[in-house]
Amino acid sequence: MRPSRPEVEIVEAPAQDETGSPGRKRKVFVRTYGCQMNVYDSDRMTDVLAPEGFQATEDLEDADLVILNTCHIREKAAEKVYSELGRIRKVKEERARQGKDMMVGVAGCVAQAEGEEIARRAPIVDLVIGPQSYHRLPGLLAKAGAGEKVVETEFDIDAKFEHLSEQAAAPVKKRPPAAFLTVQEGCDKFCTFCVVPYTRGAEVSRSVEQIVTEAERMAASGVREITLLGQNVNAWHGEGADGKAWGLGRLLRRLAEIDGLDRLRYTTSHPRDMDDDLIAAHRDLTSLMPYLHLPVQSGSDRILKAMNRRHTREDYFRLIDRIREAAPDIALSGDFIVGFPGETDRDFEDTMDLIRRVEYGSAFSFKYSSRPGTPGAAMDDQVPEDIKSARLAALQDLVSAQQKAFNASRLGMTCDVLLERKGRNPGQLAGKSPWLQAVQLDAPENLIGSIQAVEIIEIGANSLFGRLIERQDESGSTRPGAIKEAAFDA
Ligand code: 5AD
Ligand code: SF4
Repeated sequence: MRPSRPEVEIVEAPAQDETGSPGRKRKVFVRTYGCQMNVYDSDRMTDVLAPEGFQATEDLEDADLVILNTCHIREKAAEKVYSELGRIRKVKEERARQGKDMMVGVAGCVAQAEGEEIARRAPIVDLVIGPQSYHRLPGLLAKAGAGEKVVETEFDIDAKFEHLSEQAAAPVKKRPPAAFLTVQEGCDKFCTFCVVPYTRGAEVSRSVEQIVTEAERMAASGVREITLLGQNVNAWHGEGADGKAWGLGRLLRRLAEIDGLDRLRYTTSHPRDMDDDLIAAHRDLTSLMPYLHLPVQSGSDRILKAMNRRHTREDYFRLIDRIREAAPDIALSGDFIVGFPGETDRDFEDTMDLIRRVEYGSAFSFKYSSRPGTPGAAMDDQVPEDIKSARLAALQDLVSAQQKAFNASRLGMTCDVLLERKGRNPGQLAGKSPWLQAVQLDAPENLIGSIQAVEIIEIGANSLFGRLIERQDESGSTRPGAIKEAAFDA
């Protein structure tokens, strides 16, 4: 999943002081690292803190409470957290000179993995809280406020999901047009390079009822596009109202029935869990966007085996063929690791060959980073850093050429764009194409939240530029499928 900043929602709530009585408002600054699941969790943390009188702020100096929602997937991410804590220490000291308090919390996967070590290495930290305990934040903050160092890293995913559902039942508030919804957490796959099974725990799915209720409420509060999240989202399973076992394909079909929900996406998937029904959903559902992030990590059978991916490169090619047969215009994306222990030039060449054959619309690539406690860390033949760097550069050149070609192929097309926010320049709005590309165009602000037919007139380095070709009403009634057809005739 991709690094991004949270869009912290400012929730108006009755102001209260620490004793719970009405008084001054407090400010919370949340910084999010890592995947979209963290973005979703950060939003939920600000939601739980709102009734405590906390308002979100983008200004660190102004914060009574700072929360770093961390990622542990690669080494540098944890190091970034420690250096950020160094910077926060200075701000906290400056506030103390002005007679103002600042509490500091570390949440997310670094919190889960390192626990008390964080408070030891960074004494300014008052609260360490793992991903499954966010619903307990108010109580834990009260403890930390009373001077106790709080470290809370219990695994209790059911309690978290239960609480998310209670939050979803709170009064409807305005939300941005594109939002995340966690449907599954954890992972049982144990790829030998990965910490997720240890930091996020076993694979658990939220119930159909919880998900549908939350999606309906999101739609009622202005959300037009939902991205279903899970570390292994396509391993999601549940029991439908019909008493039958549902997979993700069936769930998507149910969500596609919700009024106002025009776009559905899901991430991140594992090739082994792409079943026939999910592939068929890409063929059948106009609201399921033509984009799929399907990490393969390596194109070498030897390395795939050592990674415990439990599929071959041929399995992956066959899968891609079936997906493209169901949805010919789909944009494929992937994750790649270079320099996994034992990776030879020949193995790396197999990865480059796989990329050439698949032709990705975009991809994310990383140097292998040894994670303590994972089987990969104990393997012989760790690859030297300079070789990893050279392979990464070569792979990124190839992927970036493919991305440019994919973007360029959209020139002159007309496609639906969900207008999400103000754009870079005055008078511009920014949105997303069906293929998850950023699109900038001139359009009036009142169209934020609508889906518009847009002609792609220029291809930039990071975004496409478009022109509004027809004004829709605010409900943006354009059918993605209909526009897709027109686009391919163009
Ligand atoms: N080293 C490098 N990359 C990793 N990823 C996960 N663990 C590691 C690691 N130890 C990458 C994988 C995964 C993405 C989220 O992060 O490509 O799909
Ligand atoms: Fe990590 Fe593999 Fe699970 Fe993905 S499938 S979260 S890479 S262990």
